[in-house]
This record gives sequence, C-alpha cells and structure tokens, in this order.
Amino acid sequence: MAILALAAILLQFTTLVFAQVSLPNPSYLPPNASWGAVPSSGGSPNPQWTVLLGNSLYFYEAQRSGRLPSTKRVSWRNDSALNDGRDSDLDLSGGYYDAGTVYPPDYLKCTFPLSFTLMSACWGALDYGKGYDMTSQTPYLDDMLRWGLDWLIKAHPSNDTLYVQVADPDYDNAYWGGDQNIPSNRPSYQVNDTNPGTDVAAAASAAFAACSILYSNSTSYNATNSSIPFSRASLQNGTYSATLLSHARSLWTFANEHNDTLYQDSVPAAEDTYPSSDYKDDLAFAALWMAWATNDVVLYNQTQRMWSEYELGGASGGLDGVFNWDGKTPGIPVLATQIGSVMEEQWQGDYDLSAWQKLAESYLDGVVDGDGRARTTDGGLLYYDGDSDEASLNPALNAAMLMTRYAPMASSPQKKWSYQSYANSQLDYVLGDNPMKVPYIVGMNPNSPQNPHSALASGGDDISHLDTVPAQEAYVLYGAVVGGPDAHDKFWDIRSDWPETEVALDYTAPLLTLAAAHAMNDTSDPFYTTLQAGAYAKPKYHPCDAVFDCTPSLSRTGKIVMGVCLGVTGLVIAGLTAYWLYLNLGNRFPTYDGVNRA
Ligand SMILES: *[C@@H]1O[C@H](CO)[C@@H](O)[C@H](O)[C@H]1NC(C)=O
Ligand SMILES: *[C@@H]1O[C@H](CO)[C@@H](O)[C@H](O)[C@H]1NC(C)=O
Ligand SMILES: *[C@@H]1O[C@H](CO)[C@@H](O)[C@H](O)[C@H]1NC(C)=O
Ligand SMILES: *[C@@H]1O[C@H](CO)[C@@H](O)[C@H](O)[C@H]1NC(C)=O
Ligand SMILES: *[C@@H]1O[C@H](CO)[C@@H](O)[C@H](O)[C@H]1NC(C)=O
Ligand SMILES: *[C@@H]1O[C@H](CO)[C@@H](O)[C@H](O)[C@H]1NC(C)=O
Ligand SMILES: *[C@@H]1O[C@H](CO)[C@@H](O)[C@H](O)[C@H]1NC(C)=O
Ligand SMILES: *[C@@H]1O[C@H](CO)[C@@H](O)[C@H](O)[C@H]1NC(C)=O
Ligand SMILES: *[C@@H]1O[C@H](CO)[C@@H](O)[C@H](O)[C@H]1NC(C)=O
Ligand SMILES: *[C@@H]1O[C@H](CO)[C@@H](O)[C@H](O)[C@H]1NC(C)=O
Ligand SMILES: *[C@@H]1O[C@H](CO)[C@@H](O)[C@H](O)[C@H]1NC(C)=O
Repeated sequence: MAILALAAILLQFTTLVFAQVSLPNPSYLPPNASWGAVPSSGGSPNPQWTVLLGNSLYFYEAQRSGRLPSTKRVSWRNDSALNDGRDSDLDLSGGYYDAGTVYPPDYLKCTFPLSFTLMSACWGALDYGKGYDMTSQTPYLDDMLRWGLDWLIKAHPSNDTLYVQVADPDYDNAYWGGDQNIPSNRPSYQVNDTNPGTDVAAAASAAFAACSILYSNSTSYNATNSSIPFSRASLQNGTYSATLLSHARSLWTFANEHNDTLYQDSVPAAEDTYPSSDYKDDLAFAALWMAWATNDVVLYNQTQRMWSEYELGGASGGLDGVFNWDGKTPGIPVLATQIGSVMEEQWQGDYDLSAWQKLAESYLDGVVDGDGRARTTDGGLLYYDGDSDEASLNPALNAAMLMTRYAPMASSPQKKWSYQSYANSQLDYVLGDNPMKVPYIVGMNPNSPQNPHSALASGGDDISHLDTVPAQEAYVLYGAVVGGPDAHDKFWDIRSDWPETEVALDYTAPLLTLAAAHAMNDTSDPFYTTLQAGAYAKPKYHPCDAVFDCTPSLSRTGKIVMGVCLGVTGLVIAGLTAYWLYLNLGNRFPTYDGVNRA
C-alpha cells in the first residue's frame, strides 16, 4: 500500500517535472574532447555539428541556479541560491547565473542580458528549428528555454514590476568558489511605475514575444516562402505560448508608458553590471517582435517611423556598431526583412520591405568591407576597437549569426554569397581556424581552452590564487564559448584573465543558432576535427588587457637596451618638435582677435 502511494506520488512528481517535451532516455551527454579530433563520416545531420549543438545547450544547464531536477545532467552541480527573492517576499529562485565570475562579480542573475539570450535562442529556433529536431536536441532546447522563461515569469509578478537583478556586484567582497557557499546576501532589484526602465522592460517583452511565436500552435506562422529561413523546432504548446504572450503584452505596455528611461537610473546596482546605453533600440526591436507575435501589421509599419524618429541609423553610429545585449540596432533591419518576407502573403505586402532590406545590406556590407568601425584582425577575426577588447568573439559570432540568417534574403546572388562566406569565415575562426589553432569552445577538442574563468567549473575557492588552485579545472564546462583572443589573435588561456577566458550566457547564445543552422544543412565537419592534440602553443609573455598590465616581461639586458633606445628617440623627438615650433608657431595659430596672421 505504502509502496503504491509512494509510486503514485513519484508519478505525480514525474508528470510535474515532465510537463513539457519529454527528455530522451538515455540522456545526451557530451563526449570527451578527444572526440572532436576525429573526423566523422559526414552525413545529415553531421554527428560533429550534432555534438556542438548538444554541448552548447548543455552549457546552459551547467549555469542553472535554484533547485535542480532529478533529471539533471550536470552531475557536479548542486541546488543553490534557494532564498533568492525572500527580501521581496517573492520566490526568485531558479533561472541562470549570468557568467563565470570574479569580474563581472558573479553568481548574479541579470534580466537584461538574460532576455537577450532567450530572445536570441528563440529567434534561432524559429529559423533553424529543424536543426534541433534532426539532432534530437529539441527536448533540451525546450528545457533550456523554460528554465529561463519560467524565471522571467516569476521576475514579472505584476504588470508594472520587473525584477532586473538578483545579488549585488560587491567588488570588495567578491566570491570565488563552488555553488554551496555562495554568499547569502543577495538583494533583488526591481523597476516599477515610480522607478521604471524602458530598455529592460522592452528587452524582456521581446524575449517573451519571440518565444511565444516559437511555442505557438497557430498555423499562421507557417512560412510559405522557402527562401526565408523559417522552420520552427517542434515544441509547440498553445498554453505556454499564451502565457508568454501575455507577459510580452504587459511588458510592452509598461515600456511604452515609460518610454524614455534607462533602467540603471532606477537601479544603481545595475550600473556596475549591465548598464544600458540606450532604450530606443530596445523599443524598436521589441515593436517588431510584438508585431509578429500579435500579427499586427500596423505596429510593424510603425517601426519604420520609430527608426526615423529615433535616428537609429543616424550619425550617432547606431548602424555601425555591434549586435549584443546592449545594442539591438543592427538586428532591427534584419528582423524586419525576415518578418516582412514571412508575413508577406498574410499582410498583403502593404509596407516597404525594400527599405529594410537596404538598411540591412548597408550594415552587413559595412561589416564585410571593413567600413566604419569594423575591421578584421590579421588572423581574420571581425574586430571593433573598444567593444572587442573584452570578449572579442562575441561581436563576430553575433555578426555571423545575423549574416547567416539574412543571406538567403539578400537582393543579389553576389551579396548572398558574400554574407554566407563571411559568416562562415567568422564561425570557422571560432571553431579553430585561427593563428592559435584553438577552438574557443570548452570541451570540443584537445586544443579547446582548459581554463575558462568559471567559479563553478574551476573547483577552486582561493580568490587570490585563481590560476593555481587547483592547477587543473575540476570540471569541464562543455559548450561554453570563452571571451576570446586579443586584437593580435593571441590567446593565453589563463583562468584569471576574464577578458579572454570568461564565459557568459550571451557568449554562447549565437553559437546555438549557428550550430543549429549547420546541423540542418552542413554535412561536412566543423573545422576543429582537423586539429590534433598539441596544435595550440601558449604565446610568449602575457596578455595586455584589463587584468594584465602591458609591459612585456623583458630581461635585464632587454630593459637596458630599451631604455637607451627610448632615451635617444626622446631626444630626437624633442629636437624636431622645438625646430617645428620655431618654424610654425605664431604663424599658424589664430590670435585673440580671431585673425589668422599667416
Ligand atoms: C504545455 O505547457 C504547459 C505549461 O507549461 C504544461 O503545463 C503542459 O503540460 C504542456 N503540455 C504539453 C502537452 O506538453
Ligand atoms: C575519451 O573517450 C574515448 C571514447 O569515446 C576513450 O577511448 C578515451 O579514453 C577518453 N579519453 C579520456 C581522456 O577520457
Ligand atoms: C556540488 O557538491 C559536491 C558534493 O559536495 C561537490 O563535490 C561539488 O564541488 C559541488 N559543485 C560545485 C559546483 O560547487
Ligand atoms: C520601485 O523601484 C525602486 C527602484 O528599484 C525601489 O527603490 C522602490 O522601492 C520600488 N517601489 C516599490 C513600491 O516597491
Ligand atoms: C503549421 O504549423 C502547425 C503548428 O506548428 C503544424 O501543426 C502544422 O502541421 C503546420 N502546417 C503546415 C502546412 O506546415
Ligand atoms: C492551441 O492550443 C490551445 C491551448 O492548448 C488550444 O485550445 C487550441 O485548440 C490549439 N490550437 C490548435 C490549432 O492546435
Ligand atoms: C495587466 O495587463 C494586461 C494586458 O497588458 C491587462 O489585460 C490586465 O488588466 C492588467 N492587469 C492589471 C491588474 O492591471
Ligand atoms: C513616448 O511617450 C510619449 C508620451 O506618452 C508620446 O508622446 C511619444 O509619442 C512616445 N514615443 C514613442 C516613440 O512611442
Ligand atoms: C504602412 O505605412 C505606409 C506608409 O506610411 C502606408 O502607406 C501603408 O498603408 C501602411 N500599411 C499599414 C498596413 O498600415
Ligand atoms: C521569397 O522571399 C525572397 C527573399 O525575400 C523573395 O525574393 C521572393 O520573391 C519571395 N518569393 C515569394 C514567392 O514570395
Ligand atoms: C537545409 O536543410 C533543410 C532540411 O533538410 C532543407 O529543406 C533545405 O532545403 C536546406 N537548405 C539549404 C540552403 O540547403
């Protein structure tokens, strides 16, 4: 009897846990890194791309916060931060830890980049969902999305309240260690009617809207034009979609009621984590997602007006920047072209699709041609001085993601080819076709980074000896994209060097989409299967970035030689400058009355 009762309870519990696409049995687990050095026999789906997609999803499971289900695959993770939200009389446990951690200080949960990550994952699963289906990863995609979306639902307890951060980035008391001793002082921060945040509300609304389209069981999203990337992963659930859409609507209204605020002005704790540089791009981007999710051609049309009124393509550099958690602008014309094309028949094409197409192409051409701020390193990585100085791979992967998606919609075969090949070159770089011969994803190949900046995976708890305690990371953080190499394509693989080795939710996000696209359509292996153990050699000296100072460690003789050279050069420069001043000064400079006496 007792056993039957227990069985009944267990059964109930299991139904609760599996209230979604059921997980495969046996589970997908990442093979060890040596597997990535063995070329596969190809086929569709290609087994190597399958593993890359599977591992990318697995990374998110390793980042989970809260009470973990009995079905967890990451055996070394434990329940953690179960009291989140208590200070607000709310259950804010669950969700994902944002990154790896001493800097940005971790075990934080941050709504702004989380929303971007979820939006990005759902966008990719709308386009290349077949890639998830073909590789049997759809149940894990469902699981990954729900773990984030269910938390985001809890973080939005009423129409005008959105929790935007849990835990304070206290640099003085930064914590480095496992998931069982996370400091318990974890305040939760909200935006609301009196202290709003347009950007974060719009971003969360975009995530909910994008994911509601993915989950929707309505046939109105079935694409009819096969040249547009659109094949949703098979996880439709009308009830869940409706829940997501109601949160999207509510946050969209909230964002529009307070349509000109930055959330860090309301929540100063966000100033040190993910401050937003503008709210306009977030509003316009969310408008597109809302238009699609609610089948509203008028709103879609209005986005064009928002684009001009907000001068998003203007001199402020909106269309010359990176696409990431903070900058949504480059995604707007790409998404607008896609929606306009997918909905063309239903919406009767009563809008200017070609205007969006022109904008999208002017942006993507700028990236390919290296106009404006974009350039490529000698090794071939897309690089933006400033943005790429920390986590250099992120701008490149996001650009590759936009280009891969846009290529089939390009206005000419030449452009289509140009975008697709540029996107492939960036992805190949990330997968090991780079001067270091490092596939910058943990656990994919013997040359993958061994020292991701991850407190969870490192197994260490000595904040002053990150690199040596322990010597080898305790756990392999499969599927984590690390920050990336420096502007000279160099990568040192040092655990404390967060600009190069940090991991984060948004770093791996574009890889989900790219891996799904390739799993769907690429029978040949990812680049790294050609790389054998030992291909990577640590460069000399050390990095020159926010962690390491830039003086090369020179020998004593080197220093003396350098000192002498500097001294001589200095004298020469001083002499020439004096001579130039003697010749030019007084002639060139306007005097107090503004008359140039030259
Ligand atoms: C659909 O999603 C809802 C909400 O998460 C869940 O309760 C239900 O079991 C799901 N239905 C199916 C058939 O998976
Ligand atoms: C990796 O897995 C292969 C089998 O897939 C096994 O032969 C090999 O010993 C494993 N290597 C390590 C280091 O665990
Ligand atoms: C989870 O708990 C186990 C057992 O106490 C421990 O060995 C492991 O390191 C913990 N994991 C993390 C990420 O701290
Ligand atoms: C509204 O948000 C601000 C900023 O987070 C917070 O200080 C204030 O207490 C909130 N108001 C209410 C009624 O919770
Ligand atoms: C349209 O989409 C729905 C929901 O995803 C699916 O059940 C249906 O089979 C699709 N119809 C066609 C014609 O593709
Ligand atoms: C979509 O899901 C809802 C809620 O589960 C259901 O009422 C409706 O009949 C479904 N529609 C279709 C077309 O399957
Ligand atoms: C919350 O917003 C939704 C739609 O945005 C609306 O239908 C509902 O009435 C609102 N609830 C309250 C309590 O204002
Ligand atoms: C922002 O809100 C103000 C006041 O409600 C309104 O006049 C303005 O049109 C709104 N701007 C946009 C772009 O929606
Ligand atoms: C979209 O905007 C254009 C120009 O503003 C207008 O001609 C057209 O009728 C609008 N279409 C819809 C569906 O609102
Ligand atoms: C499909 O979309 C492409 C790219 O936007 C477009 O060139 C083509 O005319 C569309 N075909 C149909 C039948 O609508
Ligand atoms: C990609 O793969 C899908 C599914 O196998 C197929 O329908 C589609 O035509 C392929 N697209 C390209 C560009 O190869």
